Amino acid sequence: MLKKIHFLIYLLVTISFFAQNKGVISEDILIVYLSRTNNTKAIAELIQEQLGGDLVAIELETPYPEDYDAIVKQVARENATGYLPPLKTRIDLDKYSTIFIGFPTWGMQLPPPVKSFLVNNDLGGKTVVPFNTNAGYGVGSSFRTVNELCVDCKILKGFQIKGGVERDGILLAIKDEKREQARKLVQAWLAEISPGIPR
Ligand SMILES: Cc1cc2nc3c(=O)[nH]c(=O)nc-3n(C[C@H](O)[C@H](O)[C@H](O)COP(=O)(O)O)c2cc1C
Repeated sequence: MLKKIHFLIYLLVTISFFAQNKGVISEDILIVYLSRTNNTKAIAELIQEQLGGDLVAIELETPYPEDYDAIVKQVARENATGYLPPLKTRIDLDKYSTIFIGFPTWGMQLPPPVKSFLVNNDLGGKTVVPFNTNAGYGVGSSFRTVNELCVDCKILKGFQIKGGVERDGILLAIKDEKREQARKLVQAWLAEISPGIPR
């Protein structure tokens, strides 16, 4: 009987230690992402699954057109002129020390709404971690632009993976078996960068 009670006490102490520890870490983490066809959202969810933290989608005041050709043209125009679309999403960043920022590659660049987010928010002193999905052509200049726009941030190694190919009608690709593969890759990447995440 006494053994059972001791074991129960041990179990409770262990559980409460892990619960508290997890809370302290995850409260400081924001996972913010832009996603049109939910591939980047899938990676954001896998990060949250591992680390906890708050998950927030970047939304625009005026959404982009549904039509693929129309959005490609609009984004090309915005990239050429440096237009920064106004965002509906407003986040109080004060309580976060680590910000994961996710986005697809658009026109081999950082999407204009993510440029808006970085220009309009002061991320100074924060740890910033970029992650990306693309159609197989890579991150282009997007990670470089995150570095340029995050003044006084500590930027950790980013993650990228092939997502959808909307041009060919492939929208959400990171599902089922591909999501399982992505989960393992995300786990390995987080293990690699975790010494740089403030506790
Ligand atoms: C406007 C637009 C431009 C894109 N440009 C590129 C590109 O330059 N290179 C690339 O690899 N994929 C490009 N893609 C494909 C997306 O990066 C890819 O499908 C990504 O996984 C979509 O992420 P999401 O599902 O989170 O929106 C583009 C998609 C859109 C809608």
